[in-house]
Amino acid sequence: MAERMISGVLSKPDVALELTLRPSLFSDFTGQAKVKERLEIAVQAARQRGEALDHILLSGPPGLGKTTLANIIAKAMGASLKSTSGPTIEKAGDLAGLLTNLEEGDVLFIDEIHRLQKTIEEYLYPAMEDFKLDIIIDQGPNARSVRLNLPRFTLIGATTRSGLLTAPLLTRFAVRERLDYYEADQLQKIVVRSARLLNLEIEEAGAHEIARRSRGTPRIANNLLRRVRDYAQVRHDGRITAAVADRALEMLEIDQNGLDEMDKRILETIIVKFSGGPVGVSSLAVAVGEEPDTLEEVYEPYLIMEGYLKRTSQGRVATELSYQKLRLTPAKGNQPGLF
Ligand SMILES: Nc1ncnc2c1ncn2[C@@H]1O[C@H](COP(=O)(O)OP(=O)(O)OP(=O)(O)O)[C@@H](O)[C@H]1O
Ligand SMILES: [Mg+2]
Repeated sequence: MAERMISGVLSKPDVALELTLRPSLFSDFTGQAKVKERLEIAVQAARQRGEALDHILLSGPPGLGKTTLANIIAKAMGASLKSTSGPTIEKAGDLAGLLTNLEEGDVLFIDEIHRLQKTIEEYLYPAMEDFKLDIIIDQGPNARSVRLNLPRFTLIGATTRSGLLTAPLLTRFAVRERLDYYEADQLQKIVVRSARLLNLEIEEAGAHEIARRSRGTPRIANNLLRRVRDYAQVRHDGRITAAVADRALEMLEIDQNGLDEMDKRILETIIVKFSGGPVGVSSLAVAVGEEPDTLEEVYEPYLIMEGYLKRTSQGRVATELSYQKLRLTPAKGNQPGLF
């Protein structure tokens, strides 16, 4: 869903661009050094043994490179990748169709795997563990279960919400990796690489300005780079300097810390409408006009990591930092973020 939500707002040429900017080799994938090393070793070891790779679960907020890594892994294995997503598998038959069409060593990529139906998930267990699929054929008195042998395949699951995965599914992934937000200097490298691919003239300081205001997220860095490019082209001579990037980002209402309008609306709502919190995610979602899932998957993780927001058992609470950011003072007797 995260993919759909974010690239859903991109126009067609933007989607094509996203594909061009997506690295296809481990060596072009910047950052996430530990994850990358562990995955590269798993790939190399499996190749040396001539075996299929173990099942892999990639988790983390949207836009950090889960889909990209799945493609890189399949390519490095010399395997073909078949791609689907949790909500699109509606019936057990859909899954059976996917699995029986796989060939030895193929990678099956299931995006948003936390949104797989429970009944379908249960078919996956023996498929992942023993490469067997039990399907029921016929109905009524003739109904019988048939066991099919599957080729040894690799399941790569991606999720923005690994906490929603059931234990039986989680434990069937031998490799589980969590992607974290990127450091500004890593994003800067990504911006410079993307600028090169797009034939843009950019100064390191300009790339740095975009990188540090991209919420630790490569997809956002690439999107901002395109918007800054437009600004540089129309208002200047096309060259992206720090000053040009700053002005463009200002125009886009991306603030000095990379918070966008929605981030600020969330913080302001908690502070002004809910006296700093705690407020439940569904009330907050209604108040800001977003889906609760989007708040939890897209906005909150970054705000929490940066210390603007706290998640408590009673709900979301704005911290001191949020008050400072919005230049608001807490009401008397209301100590921000303290419990
Ligand atoms: N480490 C990286 N180096 C360079 N570019 C990257 C990296 N990670 C991601 N990107 C860029 O960011 C874009 C988004 O990455 P990707 O689609 O893999 O994210 P995702 O984790 O699958 O997100 P979602 O949860 O929304 O599906 C890619 O098209 C790619 O251009
Ligand atoms: Mg993805």
